[in-house]
Amino acid sequence: MKIGVPKEIAPGETRIAASPDSVKKFAALDVEVLIESDAGAGAQMSDAALAGAGARIMPDAAAVYGEADLVAKVRAPLRGGGGGGNGADELALVRPDAVLVGLLAPLQQRAEVARYAARGVTAFAMELVPRISRAQSMDALSSQSNIAGYKAVIDAAGRFGRILPMMMTAAGTVAPARVVVLGAGVAGLQAIATARRLGALVSAFDVRPAVKEQVESLGAKFVSVDADAGADGGAETAGGYAREMGEDYKQRQSRLIHETLKNQDICIATAQIPGRKAPLLITGAMVADMKPGSVIVDLAVETGGNCELSAFDEVVVRHGVTIVGHANYPARVPVDTSALYARNLFNFIAPMIDRESRALAIDWEDEVIKGALLTRGGAVVNPALREDEGA
Ligand code: NAI
Repeated sequence: MKIGVPKEIAPGETRIAASPDSVKKFAALDVEVLIESDAGAGAQMSDAALAGAGARIMPDAAAVYGEADLVAKVRAPLRGGGGGGNGADELALVRPDAVLVGLLAPLQQRAEVARYAARGVTAFAMELVPRISRAQSMDALSSQSNIAGYKAVIDAAGRFGRILPMMMTAAGTVAPARVVVLGAGVAGLQAIATARRLGALVSAFDVRPAVKEQVESLGAKFVSVDADAGADGGAETAGGYAREMGEDYKQRQSRLIHETLKNQDICIATAQIPGRKAPLLITGAMVADMKPGSVIVDLAVETGGNCELSAFDEVVVRHGVTIVGHANYPARVPVDTSALYARNLFNFIAPMIDRESRALAIDWEDEVIKGALLTRGGAVVNPALREDEGA
């Protein structure tokens, strides 16, 4: 059994789907990991370090794909020219009998999923691993969002012309900065914790009342619209995700966010609705009413942004407010995000390997496998993708 790890070619992607630690763990299962030369460069993992852990370093991508029974990727395979990269058609290199595992963004890239099926590849999306207790160690959304939430605060602090903590000095007292976090999911909670550690006064919004306790336990104030979330069964889906809210709620929330932003210094916006466009929470008029010198970090920029004035993968200044819209936040901290993602992958892949035959033996009835499986036997099989096929 061989696992192939090509170098990521998506523009700005610094991560790698392996680490010396994951290579060692696979080696202990008698699984060989083939890694394209230089694949770890963006994450400060040298070929020598990976080879030292037991990986076989391959000269190019074609060599990796040619031998790999399972291809482990960070991002979805790129098609020549489309979406950047180096012009290669990565999917054309994946063997039709191979398994593909990665952050394949299936809900955003349905046409690509159809291509995996057409190629015959068995594809798994790490985003769709169910968020059940048993699968926590495989939860790549959480491992990556956690670090993104941290880094967003660090970036905001770096761009803010003041310090975050209260400081009493002989020359006078500096008041603490005020930070508001929109969306208290995994990234938001980590942003709250990080801003608190830096000494800021922190408040947070979320549509899910269930997070109030978590927000407060981190020392932040929970701000919310009275959550009579409407007739559609509340703000939370059975899977624990946010729903899109009704018009009345949106208007009340909008007024509250507007008032709150007027006296904040930093806003970390993380609100997302899986598979949908991110909710627009900060309008241009709200930015205009913020204090000059304030900083907004929009972590939702890849799904359209929480702030109307965010620019995709750019830092812009509007009405004196710096708006940070970096795409792919996890790639800004590639050493840690790669190491954690590689661990998520190992935990997801290891149960697929039969200890006796040392070959893939996938339990198709397993809840985690079923949740993450996109394509098999030439067809798109995931219910999340099939449900609204005709829509
Ligand atoms: P996410 O990235 O989908 O969304 C981020 C946050 O934005 C969520 O808290 C969501 O409620 C909030 N949001 C959405 N629309 C909003 C709006 N209009 N205004 C304000 N906030 C809004 O969420 P993430 O971080 O992926 O977590 C989703 C859920 O999954 C949470 O309930 C989390 O606790 C749960 N979870 C469970 C795990 C497990 O049991 N293994 C692991 C990780 C997360």
